[in-house]
Amino acid sequence: MVLKHQQQKIAQNFGSASSSYDVSARLQRFSGKHLLPWLPNRHDLTVLDLGCGTGFFSDVLAKRYKQVIGLDLSKDMLSYTKENRDQHINLVNANAMSLPFQDNSLDVIYSNLVIQWCQPLTTLLAEINRVLKPGGIFIVSTLTDGTLFELKSSWAQVDDEKHVIDFKSAEELATDFESVEMEVLDAKQQDISLEYESVLHLAHELKGLGANHVPDKEKKGLAGKDKWRKMTQAYSDFQEPSGIYPATYALYSAMLVKLNF
Ligand SMILES: C[S@@+](CC[C@H](N)C(=O)[O-])C[C@H]1O[C@@H](n2cnc3c(N)ncnc32)[C@H](O)[C@@H]1O
Repeated sequence: MVLKHQQQKIAQNFGSASSSYDVSARLQRFSGKHLLPWLPNRHDLTVLDLGCGTGFFSDVLAKRYKQVIGLDLSKDMLSYTKENRDQHINLVNANAMSLPFQDNSLDVIYSNLVIQWCQPLTTLLAEINRVLKPGGIFIVSTLTDGTLFELKSSWAQVDDEKHVIDFKSAEELATDFESVEMEVLDAKQQDISLEYESVLHLAHELKGLGANHVPDKEKKGLAGKDKWRKMTQAYSDFQEPSGIYPATYALYSAMLVKLNF
């Protein structure tokens, strides 16, 4: 029940960001493009864009593959995709934790910056493994611990509430992949530092992306003005001589294969 509520909140936040998402999605564009060289070269494949959002990459996939499915928890994201992207993309409103597809039915699952919202991750991976054909490929990017450490540590100087979602380490991800018997064929890790004019700019970008929901946050409502001021003061320790505020994103991307059994 609690989990269902969390997923409704995630869908709501992303849904209300559907029209602002594309202009805020600097990191998402970078990481999604970064996955493309791993895509197989054959055309006659069925490919799922898992957590397709505004469908930017579903569109890219639709130019390469015979059948592309864009799946998302948020109906508003899918409406945006329907209006703005290739008309041949099959859109499915569903939860990635319970995929409405038959066993062994998909050739490729592509997923850009989505799985960090899906808990427990092993449940999602078991679903992915179930619907992929043996030998099917899972191409994924996600964020790992260290992401937004500047924001996290600045908030830690103000209170002990959770203001940033928990990200797994690359080692924890590897253990989860192993537990569902998927083999990592290739993986990359890199820290991306994005520049912001102010801490408010960072907060607006996270909101514009719909990525401002913190699943386990205990207290509701906005942080008070005083807390916000203290946090931004603490964040100024990271301010660079040029005046910009950096924020780090620890990007992990991988290509996995479902083993033949
Ligand atoms: C950061 S956006 C990424 C969107 C897109 N992949 C891109 O590259 O721009 C995350 C997306 O995942 C979706 N999402 C989050 N949890 C989900 C779940 N359990 N099932 C399906 N979609 C989910 C959100 O609604 C949102 O559209």
